[in-house]
Amino acid sequence: MTIKPLIILPDPILRQASKPIETVDGEVKKLAADMLETMYDAPGIGLAAIQIGVPRRMLVLDVSKEGDDKTPLVFINPEIVSSSDERSVYEEGCLSIPDYYAEVERPAKIKVRHLDAEGREQMTEADGLLATCLQHEIDHLNGILFIDHISKLKREMVIRKFTKAAKLRGSKAL
Ligand code: NI
Repeated sequence: MTIKPLIILPDPILRQASKPIETVDGEVKKLAADMLETMYDAPGIGLAAIQIGVPRRMLVLDVSKEGDDKTPLVFINPEIVSSSDERSVYEEGCLSIPDYYAEVERPAKIKVRHLDAEGREQMTEADGLLATCLQHEIDHLNGILFIDHISKLKREMVIRKFTKAAKLRGSKAL
């Protein structure tokens, strides 16, 4: 397992739509292991493959409470098949937008069809933090970031801040 560098806003890679995974082979399993390692190291509770620069439809998460046993989950080719009318609000963050948090409203409950880490078809019903986290990560597979769900004013402020920071990093490298 290898910790991979994270792709950070405003890198255009984050806006790419990811492609489905056709077979869950050794390479895909290695990618899942690397993603979990990278997520735990960050630390974060969810990571999509595109956040380490791999445009494939896979995400990993672990929404277990601090102090409880780790519960790593792998979702391959996830597809939301139903969403509740009921909504819930969580303060979200993202490993690709470090140290920025904002409240996002999303459906409170969802049903997701996907493959698991072994390539078996699964249907997962999620609510609470798991539902929010899954929707956030599935958005990544479609090139959508959580800041797309906040006001335009706030979004532009965040993008400006990260664009400036990226330029500073660039000039230091010269
Ligand atoms: Ni994210």
